[in-house]
Amino acid sequence: MTERFAGKVALVTGASGVVGRAAALAYAREGAAVLVAGRDAARLAEIVKLAESEGGRASAFTVDITRSAEVAAMVEAAVSRYGGLDVALNTAGIFGQMAPLADYDEDIWDDVLAVNLKGVFLSMKHEIAHMRAHGGGVIVNVSSNLGAHWRLAGASAYAASKAAVSHLTRTAARDHIADGVRINAISPGPVDSPMSTRPGETRADRDERMRTALPIGRVSTPEEIAAAALWLSSADSSFVVGADHVIDGGATA
Ligand SMILES: NC(=O)c1ccc[n+]([C@@H]2O[C@H](COP(=O)([O-])OP(=O)(O)OC[C@H]3O[C@@H](n4cnc5c(N)ncnc54)[C@H](OP(=O)(O)O)[C@@H]3O)[C@@H](O)[C@H]2O)c1
Repeated sequence: MTERFAGKVALVTGASGVVGRAAALAYAREGAAVLVAGRDAARLAEIVKLAESEGGRASAFTVDITRSAEVAAMVEAAVSRYGGLDVALNTAGIFGQMAPLADYDEDIWDDVLAVNLKGVFLSMKHEIAHMRAHGGGVIVNVSSNLGAHWRLAGASAYAASKAAVSHLTRTAARDHIADGVRINAISPGPVDSPMSTRPGETRADRDERMRTALPIGRVSTPEEIAAAALWLSSADSSFVVGADHVIDGGATA
């Protein structure tokens, strides 16, 4: 096995989720010490156990990424437990509801923007503060093709928040590449996860809908998204700065 992250410290927010879990395990398999962060302590503990059972190094940190002090403590935990922070993958996100804009619930709107946009802002703010003072680092933000690239009626808060993440990534990349901090985003299409299944839909219904909606004819596996995130956070992508890589089976081709 290649170990692109041997000796590195990686932080994954949303690690208790489908995409974050796949990425956290992949970082651990490739040699990183991984801080797995999310709200669900039990699921985080399972991932730590799994990483350790495969010979990896990982530990859990419980965080609400909408709270600045908790996000600062998350970065500090990576530093105090493992001696630094080299790589951050910001996957924490929520979908909100499906409703036409005029019927969209205001509190849900606020929650979606708080987690998806302010959460990524706060994560980057504290990650960068450490990285630029300690020789640099790499950040990958998980956006969505439903933001700046594709359209879905009824997903206004999610789409607006993700389009903003794609643009925030570009601005932050320009702000901090001279500090040695390389920042990019990925914009996945539908992944095999509860988030890609509409209310009342079974997994089989979702797969049938995607068979024709996506040129590739299927949703992605979480591992396919993790693979792109790992490439973007490895030295293999060292000249890629401020990009927003769409990974969507051809949906926006
Ligand atoms: N699944 C898809 O089809 C798809 C497509 C395109 C983009 N994406 C994006 O990919 C990312 C991961 O999606 P997923 O399918 O893995 O979703 P998921 O399984 O629902 O996981 C979401 C993660 O975000 C965490 N989270 C939510 N609110 C948080 C908060 N306030 N503070 C800290 N953590 C919080 C959750 O933590 P807890 O579970 O511990 O609460 C969970 O770990 C998201 O940003 C999503 O928008 C997903």
